[in-house]
Amino acid sequence: MPLPDAFLQELISRNPIDDVVSSYVRVKRRGRNSVGLCPFHGEKTPSFTVYSETSSFYCFGCGAGGDVITFIKKIENLSYIDAVRFLADRAGLKMPDEHTDDTISKLRMRILEANRDAARFFHQCLYAPEGRVGLEYYYSRGYTDQTIKRFGLGYAPDSFHALLDYMRKKKYNDDELKAAFLVAKSSRTGNYYDIFRNRVIIPIIDIRGSVIAFGGRVLDDSKPKYINTSDTLVFKKTNGLFALNFAKASKENSLILCEGYMDVIALHQAGFTNSVAALGTSFTEEHARLVARYASEAILVFDSDSAGKKGAQRAISLLRKTGMHIRVITIPNGKDPDEFIKTYGAERFKLLIDRSSNDIEYQLIELGRMHSLDTTDGRVSYLREAAILLSRLNNPIERDVYAGKLSAELSVSKQAILDQISRYQKSDIKKHQKQELSHAVKQSEGVMRKVNPQAATHLRAARAEEGLLGLLILHPDFIKSVSQRLNPESMVTDFNKGLYERLLSRFNEGQLIDLAFLSSDYEDDEMAYISRMVQNARENVCTTELAAEYADIIKNEHSMLAFNNPDQLPEDKINEMLDVLRSQRK
Ligand code: UTP
Ligand code: MN
Repeated sequence: MPLPDAFLQELISRNPIDDVVSSYVRVKRRGRNSVGLCPFHGEKTPSFTVYSETSSFYCFGCGAGGDVITFIKKIENLSYIDAVRFLADRAGLKMPDEHTDDTISKLRMRILEANRDAARFFHQCLYAPEGRVGLEYYYSRGYTDQTIKRFGLGYAPDSFHALLDYMRKKKYNDDELKAAFLVAKSSRTGNYYDIFRNRVIIPIIDIRGSVIAFGGRVLDDSKPKYINTSDTLVFKKTNGLFALNFAKASKENSLILCEGYMDVIALHQAGFTNSVAALGTSFTEEHARLVARYASEAILVFDSDSAGKKGAQRAISLLRKTGMHIRVITIPNGKDPDEFIKTYGAERFKLLIDRSSNDIEYQLIELGRMHSLDTTDGRVSYLREAAILLSRLNNPIERDVYAGKLSAELSVSKQAILDQISRYQKSDIKKHQKQELSHAVKQSEGVMRKVNPQAATHLRAARAEEGLLGLLILHPDFIKSVSQRLNPESMVTDFNKGLYERLLSRFNEGQLIDLAFLSSDYEDDEMAYISRMVQNARENVCTTELAAEYADIIKNEHSMLAFNNPDQLPEDKINEMLDVLRSQRK
């Protein structure tokens, strides 16, 4: 059952796209529109545009686009109906009755409920006799009862069915528990059993306060150290950040990124409530975008072992793409933040942050370590790589400062270093622009090819169809006259024909024409393709003449197409085509 128009209309008017987008993306007003950095691909110059007038968005970089529902679908990683539900919740709207029970959404809700109950169970166990070992473990790491409560920490008993029994009593069925990744099914016996056993349990809570996953740590040195919830309907490892629910409320404009759960908890306990960590996975592009959404500065605290250094480099390069400010803390003596705070206290950690270098300084030090500065060769290659590094700095003052430092360190004239930097900069900027452009072109071409494969072989027709359809979505009042001129059968590419038919039927039924009413029928890529049509149409002066011109090109292309295989045509069709051709010669 499609959603009623009246409901969708209400939904859209109560969720102004600027409002919705601005809780994910920092946008700046530019004329009638707003622009910002695209949350769907890495970029430094804003090409993500929000059009309040048509309640739509479009990214000139990656070609993502659509209405407010498509936006939520993509950014929250939800199905169409769940995105609608999300926006309804946001605006305090009740969903139409027949849409309150959808199997997948129901299961998603059950998983969230199961997680909440499981978290409660684990927490209760911690304070029961069988959980004493877990509690002792936390105490031994210096966690207070207050911290344990705040994070809802728990303990999973040393049993294959403690949680299973508890949850079955609470009327969860085994399928639901399995979908939540709380239990697994033995392939040998076919029996279900608890996944988390004899481990301290750390619940992962999202920014809305729902328990979406768990991490479980062993109490000793056995392996694996952690078991983490795999991807489920409510959790995706690559875009979750542990403790973001607390950190987003912190007043700091920065986020401290560390490697582990335990570091984050220790830091929060020590007052650094803006700390977060990726969950049982290395830092991803999605993490970087999430961080950039909540802060303008990232403070990286990675272990000083080789895995930690690699992780830091990876995170730095991903975060750089978001354009945010980055600082890197190196903890002395190979400790992790948790140990450091325990040994030296919070004050000393604060000092580390205050004195922390920005990522350039960190990378310069690392570069210096990699080259032997006693040999001429070593110094030359150090200088070259350092200049490449500094050429990426946008701020001339920063460039000058570091060039000065390098000059003193290597006894080379500062001007020579600055010259070298500027040479790299020129080639770098060109390379970068080229890359961005070719990437963007590839992206939107890729989308186009996938959505409308026939466009590649019927370019002229497809262009006209796209032009016409974009224009009609922007100006539905032209539909009537266009429909008299062009029937859907004359559309050359199937996708566009389908879209045209849909527009006509909505128009004939007196329904509203708007991107938002299309998003229930089209996938994200298809919406991106359609948005691009609308986008291009915005750049034209839309008149009935232009619409008629498009319609004629399409008809013409269509008849040419048939003309290539005339023997397969019935006679009346041939006559009709000849008429078209004759009329065009006139
Ligand atoms: P660490 O080994 O540094 O763990 O792994 P930690 O959190 O500092 O734990 P302690 O201090 O030794 O108790 C960092 C992160 O990598 C993931 C976890 O998210 C962990 O917090 N990890 C590590 C796993 O997912 N599985 C593992 O087996 C190990
Ligand atoms: Mn640790």
